[in-house]
Amino acid sequence: MQREPHLNNAALFARREAAIARGVGHSHQIFIDRGENAEIWDVEGRRYIDFAGGIAVLNTGHRHPAITQAVKDQLDRFTHTCFQVLAYESYVELAERLNAKAPGNFAKKTLFLTTGAEAVENAVKIARAHTGRPGVIAFTGGYHGRTLMTMGLTGKVVPYKAGFGPFPAEVFHARFPNELHGTSLQDSMDSLEAIFKNDIEPGRVAAIIIEPVQGEGGFNIAPPALLQHLRAVCDQHGIVLIADEVQTGAGRTGKWFAIEHSGVAPDLITMAKSMAGGFPISAVVGRADIMDAPNPGGLGGTYAGNPLACAAALAVLDVFEQENLLQRAEDVGQRLTASLQALAQQHRCIAQVRSLGAMVAMELCQDGNPHQPDAALAKALCAEAARRGLILLSCGTYGNVIRILVPLTASDALLDEGLAIIAASLQAALAA
Ligand SMILES: Cc1ncc(COP(=O)(O)O)c(C=O)c1O
Repeated sequence: MQREPHLNNAALFARREAAIARGVGHSHQIFIDRGENAEIWDVEGRRYIDFAGGIAVLNTGHRHPAITQAVKDQLDRFTHTCFQVLAYESYVELAERLNAKAPGNFAKKTLFLTTGAEAVENAVKIARAHTGRPGVIAFTGGYHGRTLMTMGLTGKVVPYKAGFGPFPAEVFHARFPNELHGTSLQDSMDSLEAIFKNDIEPGRVAAIIIEPVQGEGGFNIAPPALLQHLRAVCDQHGIVLIADEVQTGAGRTGKWFAIEHSGVAPDLITMAKSMAGGFPISAVVGRADIMDAPNPGGLGGTYAGNPLACAAALAVLDVFEQENLLQRAEDVGQRLTASLQALAQQHRCIAQVRSLGAMVAMELCQDGNPHQPDAALAKALCAEAARRGLILLSCGTYGNVIRILVPLTASDALLDEGLAIIAASLQAALAA
């Protein structure tokens, strides 16, 4: 299809500002015309390398041919029934395949929804129905979504919670370990004990929810020892352990679920984003007895587990197997990490490079001092990279972390081209 010659980014952005609510933020003033694997072209015909992947949604790249074909085939059969009204095999097959993939030597069941926040909401509902308890413990710096419950769970005020309270009751935050910023593993475990002492007794806690690697929070990796500790605490008190794998899941970290790196089997896992290569679907996968706690009719949704998205998700699973993308995630991660570490040797402002598989980030601080996070530099770097043809995203509690979520299907040559742009853009941003 031909581009409309009269379209340009500035004119479209002006229309966006006039028509769209201000609260829907923007990273770049760029309007896409077309995407292919790890490249996009904007409405003015400019090419960009995509290191953002639609915020962790495109592990299999833009318009992977096998996924596109699966969705086209589904489009020609039926597009919607509402699964609760008329069922279809793809929903069941997808559940069977995810049940088989989830860690833990026990029977599992799955529920499909549409967004990551919805998956988290439902995981909490299921945990409460199973335990008959109200409390939920999440972690500082965590991000779980923009609905009321998930905002309550989220551990960052601006921009996610400011002005939107009151939030649901009985939600508490333990401290996520972050050695760079002075929170040790022991501090984190102690903070959980403090909640049990100061706020709520363990016997009234339904669930503990944690991201194995915090996404929006800055790609902070939960030490395996913390996850193992949480498992033990949950076992001791009958609490449901929920791993929020909305951003880490679907193979990003070199395992299908990031929590597999720790050897811990959570009771429930939430996932979304890359599981369907850009089509909206999310899931809660977990212990069959816990998943079956809510009564019939208590779970679901009109669009939940949409047939187009189920077809896409099944194709994503096939593509991962056929193209060995879990191994590719390890290789991509190593390539990106080595390059950023080399850059850190040249620039003191890179306080830390961290990665789990292909979830790779670098944290920017003035003079490398963790007490002086440099959000302005992160912003300038993203803007400069975009001018040079690379889409980058920042994240982090202090907005000073650059994260890479490039499709795992990107070639080494394209990765290197993007990494060279990061190096040149950082140099330019520092000189400005
Ligand atoms: C860990 C985590 N949980 C939940 C969500 C919310 O997902 P959604 O934006 O699809 O509602 C996100 C989104 O970034 C996420 O990273």
